Order: sequence, then C-alpha cells, then structure tokens
Amino acid sequence: MFHSSHIEISKSAYRNNIKYIKKIIGENTKLSSVIKGNAYGHGIDKIVPLAEEMGIDHFSVFSASEALETLKIKSSQSDIMIMGLLDFEEIAWAIKNKIEFFVFDPERLEKAIEIAKSLNQKARIHIEVETGFNRTGFEYKYMPKLIKYMNSNRKHFIFEGLCTHYAGAESISNYLRIKNQIKIFHKFFRYFKRNNLVPLKRHTASSAATFTYPNTIMDMARVGIAQYGFWPSPETKIYQFKKKPSESNMLRRIISWKSRVMVIKKVEAGEFIGYGTSYMANKKMKIAVIPIGYANGFSRAFSNTGRVLIRGRRVPVVGTITMNTTTVNISDLPNVEKGDEVVIIGKQRRLSISVSSFCEMSEQLNYQLLARLPENIPRHIVK
Ligand SMILES: Cc1ncc(COP(=O)(O)O)c(C=O)c1O
Repeated sequence: MFHSSHIEISKSAYRNNIKYIKKIIGENTKLSSVIKGNAYGHGIDKIVPLAEEMGIDHFSVFSASEALETLKIKSSQSDIMIMGLLDFEEIAWAIKNKIEFFVFDPERLEKAIEIAKSLNQKARIHIEVETGFNRTGFEYKYMPKLIKYMNSNRKHFIFEGLCTHYAGAESISNYLRIKNQIKIFHKFFRYFKRNNLVPLKRHTASSAATFTYPNTIMDMARVGIAQYGFWPSPETKIYQFKKKPSESNMLRRIISWKSRVMVIKKVEAGEFIGYGTSYMANKKMKIAVIPIGYANGFSRAFSNTGRVLIRGRRVPVVGTITMNTTTVNISDLPNVEKGDEVVIIGKQRRLSISVSSFCEMSEQLNYQLLARLPENIPRHIVK
C-alpha cells in the first residue's frame, strides 16, 4: 500500500551467491561486500544485515555519506571502507569511528595524519596505487616521498591495505592492460616491503577480476555485482562456463521488482497510445496501465521495447514510458484484472525477466539499471 511498486530480495539466492564467491576466493581471503550505490539498488539497509548473517564483516562504500548509512546498521564487529569521496571535514569523523579509507593523494594522506595526531587515534588507511586505470591512486614516481612520509609518521596510521582497481577485467579486449596493471601492482608492493611498510591486506579484485584473473584475489576481494547475482559481463560468464561448465549457472539474481495493474482499457484501431505518435493500434487492443515510469527507475528507453510479466505471460510495452506510468499490450490476455501482479524484473509462473535482458534492450549496464532504482521503493527480504 502507498507505493506503486516494491522490490523483493531473496535471502536464499543471496546465500547461494556468497557461498559460491567464497568458494572461488578461498578460505584465506576476506570478502568485502561492495555496497556503494545503495548496494547496487538493493538497499544498504537490507543488504548489510543479510551479509552479516552470511558471515561477511567488511563493507566497501564509495563515500562518507554511504559509510554513515552503513555505520547506523552494521554490527560492531564489521568494518567499513570508503573507496572514494571523503572530504577533509569528514576525516576526523572517519578516524573516530574507526572507518577505513582509501588514500590516493598526498593531500588526503597529510590531512589524515594531521587529524590522527590531533585525535591521538590511528587512521586506518588503504594506500591506493595507480597501475593504469588512471582514476585515483599514487603514481610510482611519487613513491620515494610517500615512503619517507609514511615511515616518519608510522605511529599515526594502521596500514590496513594496499590496493588498486582494474580497468575492465570483464572484457578480453583489456587483457594486456590488466596483465600490466597486475605487474605494476606487484612492483609497488615490493617497493613498500623493501622499506618495511607491509600492508595488512593486499586487495585488487572486483567481481570480474575474481572470476577471470585468480592471481588478483590476494588477501581480500571487493565484490559488488556478483554477490547480487549478476555476471559482470556475458564474457565473464562464458569464461566461467568454459573453465567449469557445471558452475556457469551458479549466480542467482536476488532482486525482483513488482508492481500491479492500475487501469485496463480498450483502444480502437487507428488510435495512438500515450504521448505523441510512437505507437498506433493497428487493430482493436486491450491495454493495461502500470503505475511505474522513468521517475521510478523504469527507463524511457524501454518505450515500445520493454516487456513485463502479467498472469505468467510476457507482454510488450506500447507507447512511450512516462514519468509515472507504462502501458502494455494485454490484448491476448482475456482475464487480466485491475490489481493483478506485474513483474518488471523476476519470475512469474514459468517465465522470468532478468535485468540483463532489459539492459540489452536499452543498452544500459546491469550496474546502471540497478543503481538507478529509487531509494523510496520499499524493499522486503523474502525466503
Ligand atoms: C574500487 C572498486 N572496487 C570494487 C568494485 C566492485 O566492482 P564489481 O561490482 O564489478 O564487483 C568497484 C565497483 O565499481 C570499485 O570501484
């Protein structure tokens, strides 16, 4: 009630995914659950307790505001790691709350040490190094200064991690670039080690690297998309299938997104449906209006191309998606009633609509569609 759609999160599918990922990374590697972007649209508040129930005690977020959200709900044993945005004014808060954070430039490092000193509390830092992604990270040429600075401030930080991020491990076209990044990462590590700076954890792998470059797994893997049951790319899935055919179906989508029929109406042949002239009924039609539109994360790109499930059948979107409504053709379904369940993502009877089938249609990535699901859609955990 009071919402035009809702999201269900499957606990058993999540358990299955975590078990599978843990099997791949092995017992000696920590699994950090990446929950940025509102846990890829699944809801931080839903995923954190679920992950903790499955034994996960490390969470990777992008920003201090996501860290704050996580802090409010996580158990006291779990750690939070900020991988991106942390304003200088937020560093004291992070240190006081024992929140780990990436340090990728001299300014953040100096600020963190200065604040740690003044608080008389150690900053829990992960040094991110630039290996070729060209986003964030210390460059190799800065190493002498970095080492010197870290060595003279040892008392004020815990060297929690040494890390980097790969520039597209999900695609074979990036093979040489990734291989080179791995090599450079090891070079950085040796440099730190020679200078008595040994991180507690080395971590470089995201989902794609975990599946396709096992030597990137190291002491911790930062896994996002795979825990939610999606392959980072079709290529990654095929690669896994080639390696172990029995394991290519091991990830299960945990999200379902459902709404209901709001209005049913008949349209005469020759009439246009919705705004403008993008869809003309070429015969007498029956249509159903569903109360979700682009304001609810159902992209306008699905106009005249999307599909939803009603009464166990796949029905096409007709006309343009509006801000709050979508119209589908139910001419072949005589018994549809107002209030009937509509599945936008998920299963209904024997049919299923996956996020990836959507994405192919609209050329969005899984990541993008999920992360755009509005926070105000209620999310429930189901078995
Ligand atoms: C630094 C970093 N680590 C890990 C991840 C997780 O990636 P994935 O969702 O592909 O597992 C991301 C996501 O983009 C990231 O930016």
